[in-house]
Amino acid sequence: MSVPYSTDDAGHPAPSDGLSQSVGPNGPLLLQDHFLIQKMAHFNRERVPERVVHAKGGGAFGEMEITEDVSQYTKADLFQKGKKTPLLIRFSTVAGELGSADTARDPRGFSLKFYTEHGNYDLVGNNTPIFFIRDPSKFSDFIHSQKRRADNQLRDHNMQWDFWTLNPESAHQVSFLMTDRGTPKTWRHMHGFGSHTFLWYNADGEKFWVKYHFKTDQGVENLTADEAKAMEGQDPDAHRRDLWQAIERGDYPSWTVKVQIMPFDDAVNYRVNPFDLTKVWPHADYPEITIGKFTLNRNPSNYFAEIEQAAFEPSNLVPGIGGSPDKMLQGRLFSYPDTHRYRIGPNYLQLPVNQPKVETRSYNFDGPMAYANNADPVYAPNTMGGAVSANELYEGESYHVSGEIMRSAYELHKEDDDFSQARALWEKVLSDSERANMVSNIVGHASAPEVTGDMKKRVVEYWTNVHPDLGAGVAKGLGVES
Ligand code: NDP
Ligand code: HEM
Repeated sequence: MSVPYSTDDAGHPAPSDGLSQSVGPNGPLLLQDHFLIQKMAHFNRERVPERVVHAKGGGAFGEMEITEDVSQYTKADLFQKGKKTPLLIRFSTVAGELGSADTARDPRGFSLKFYTEHGNYDLVGNNTPIFFIRDPSKFSDFIHSQKRRADNQLRDHNMQWDFWTLNPESAHQVSFLMTDRGTPKTWRHMHGFGSHTFLWYNADGEKFWVKYHFKTDQGVENLTADEAKAMEGQDPDAHRRDLWQAIERGDYPSWTVKVQIMPFDDAVNYRVNPFDLTKVWPHADYPEITIGKFTLNRNPSNYFAEIEQAAFEPSNLVPGIGGSPDKMLQGRLFSYPDTHRYRIGPNYLQLPVNQPKVETRSYNFDGPMAYANNADPVYAPNTMGGAVSANELYEGESYHVSGEIMRSAYELHKEDDDFSQARALWEKVLSDSERANMVSNIVGHASAPEVTGDMKKRVVEYWTNVHPDLGAGVAKGLGVES
């Protein structure tokens, strides 16, 4: 069988795949061997910085189909009944580095990029509907406490509990993390959430607040703490492997797409602040509405090009969908494009995986690695027949805000506090065995040798605030008098 010849990156036929050019068979090598020099120099540049968070992950391609009519809530093209939209998903752990174990106790990233007719729409969520903090100015401190110490470069549970107990708004998310949902069996067996509240507006300009829920059709399955720990050693890539293999054998995983819709004016007096990312909207108030399904059916052909260089950004919004006053979302609208310009380069949107599937007619151009063929005119407005903006597509997005500029916590709504929704999870949702596992997961985590006696007392106090029984169980396990 004849195979094509190999080339260098400029297309020249390679003179050899394994011999460098030398002076005689035993002689020194030559600077003129540009085949060798390109090979070595390119290898030295094979890595881009790993993501500062969510470094370890995996992903696949698929399609979302909308089966219900929600045009009364949004005019976004991807959510119109019957619409099929291609998508990319990336799952990840948060705190571990590129080579870390998939089954570590951590939230899981659940990033979706929809290639819509109005450009890319990204939903960069997690496998939980809430988060640890509600102000973006705490994010880097939070992440520092979850990653490595400055002196010995070790992860440190004492500093994790230090941060959590000093920031009680974390209790709801830490509760999720300490149930067995903190160690999902696979990425296929967990739900995804958009987590933030977003704005939807319809063709008549009517506005609604929306939350997204992606319910796994495979059913929720988790590992116990012991199973997860054992798998860290046995197969650190277990989740990446599982997704890849399922898709290779044609066992395509799917998720049912649901939304909660809140009429725009309800937000002012709703019992919890609907923009506070540490809170859910209880289903009894705003029931989940099924609107469609998405399925994953194609593995990447080059992991680096399609997954490592994938750039998700909550600021990728499309007509019919807007941001909200959620302070965390506002911070993220800045952070992601900024990190992509640094991690990948300013023209990251020209890479095939990040490129929209529609023609771009942007007046931004040039810069490192640019290959988009921008044509004249190069400025707007112009009288040369250049593209013009589509203001009318965004009609409905605007709403009134006013107030004094300040640094302040959210205004309290009548049921706002840091513990009651975590308490509802403990009291109403978890089974007896799930409660027992939650206690032992917390005790296991806070029993790490670096966790001090004082810190253990603070841990007990934190969980007692969620529920006295939970506090008592943790106190018993940690040997702290409650
Ligand atoms: P509901 O009884 O209507 O909903 C409970 C929710 O909890 C369901 O979505 C259920 O979905 C989910 N759930 C079940 N087991 C667990 C678990 N071990 N860990 C995390 N979630 C679980 O009650 P409310 O809507 O009034 O919410 C009560 C509490 O449930 C909330 O305070 C919150 O802690 C939790 N919750 C609420 C969600 C919401 O959006 N309202 C979403 C997820 C959790 P499923 O079994 O399909 O996962
Ligand atoms: C990744 C910042 C909150 C989910 C990242 C990255 C940064 C970042 C810089 C790396 C992106 C990259 O290099 O490609 C922030 C900031 C936050 C915040 C500043 C708060 C102010 C959140 C929240 C969620 C979330 C609340 C979920 C609800 C993710 C996910 C990824 C990620 C899923 C991985 C994206 C991917 O798959 O490539 N975040 N984050 N983040 N973040 Fe956040």
